[in-house]
Amino acid sequence: MNPFTEKGIPIEKQFQPWSELNQVPYDKGFIHPYTRTRIILMNGIEVEGIYFSHNFARSVADIDLKRQLAATRRIEQQQQKLVNWFPPGNESTLEVTIGYEQVAVDLTAYMARTEPDPKVKAALDFALLEDFDHLYRYSNLMELTEGKTADRTVKELTEIMPGRPTIAEHRHPMDSIRTPVDRASADPLTLVHILTIVAGEQQTMNFYMNVGNRPESMLGRGLYLEIAQIEEQHVSHYESLLDPNMSWFEKLVLHEYNECYMYWSCLNSEIDDRVKQVWQHNLEQEIEHLRISAELMKKFERRDPAELYPASFPQPTIFESSKDYIREILRSQIDLTEKETEYAPTSRLPENYRYFQFQKMANNGGNIAPSQQVIEDTIKHFGRDYRLETEGPHPVQRLRARETAAV
Ligand SMILES: [Fe+2]
Ligand SMILES: [Fe+2]
Ligand SMILES: [Fe+2]
Ligand SMILES: [Fe+2]
Repeated sequence: MNPFTEKGIPIEKQFQPWSELNQVPYDKGFIHPYTRTRIILMNGIEVEGIYFSHNFARSVADIDLKRQLAATRRIEQQQQKLVNWFPPGNESTLEVTIGYEQVAVDLTAYMARTEPDPKVKAALDFALLEDFDHLYRYSNLMELTEGKTADRTVKELTEIMPGRPTIAEHRHPMDSIRTPVDRASADPLTLVHILTIVAGEQQTMNFYMNVGNRPESMLGRGLYLEIAQIEEQHVSHYESLLDPNMSWFEKLVLHEYNECYMYWSCLNSEIDDRVKQVWQHNLEQEIEHLRISAELMKKFERRDPAELYPASFPQPTIFESSKDYIREILRSQIDLTEKETEYAPTSRLPENYRYFQFQKMANNGGNIAPSQQVIEDTIKHFGRDYRLETEGPHPVQRLRARETAAV
């Protein structure tokens, strides 16, 4: 499919009444985990589209351009409502959180497996092990505070066990910055991968920023606070891969192109009929957004963006179980940390490296970190931590299940 040659729906016909937008949510007992993850991801992609458009609008003087951006943005808001009003009110914040980290794990692993640029693949593999650990910590918090086990949410598509321990993830922010790709030589798949993972991680960051103060226990509040700061790192890490030399119009086109591409990817893999209709509906709208953005680029920059993209979409980006791949990355990269724009095992950092000072600063203050405390408390309460190891014991010996002492 080439979204530049498809016919869209005029923007005036895209506005919809409340009655069509406020639809009945899904049933949490029956929803497929990957339908849930698609919903979480596409919500994040719309949120990124909306904030990008607001930021663009703030930097332009042309009133007609501002009006055009406002009109399209209102549709992005409608799409965001359609998508993000699927989760039902009886899905707890922690159950939704488990869904967010399942997005981070299985989306990242799939992208890493299919990513053509080795530098971008390395960035994906790196953060994969961190979100994988978040899934484990939150699953323990959920069993401890709500008595619910995360297997009912992830349905054995994703394993739950320690990744790179969250406590080891806190680094000096200056080490989160990678070097960017070059738009002109990058594979189109690389460009959509980066924008999609930025949107996903940013949504996770936003979500924890907002809901992290909802738990009543200090432990729950602390765990969200601690992990939210890692999501901040992840956004810095991934966004630094974007080509900084793209113009506002080029970025606008890339956003709309990626929305088309991701709805098309979701449509190809969706099994829930009602949700599928929303992917189809939004895709048809996006085709017009892309056409409008291309017209704007032609008008303001005298360039045709269709020439910058291939004649058909790259291979779809989908949700798929990646257990063996994740186990391999755990085995080979568990000890890595970030050192300036590269990666290095913590044991090879110079003794006075800023990583160690930052670790000391972050963990100062007496009590153990919430991400450690949650495991200690779960072990104290149940005599074991919560894990979902469907493919055998943990691939890293020292992270195998134990009855005492925090991981
Ligand atoms: Fe959209
Ligand atoms: Fe995470
Ligand atoms: Fe993350
Ligand atoms: Fe759009």
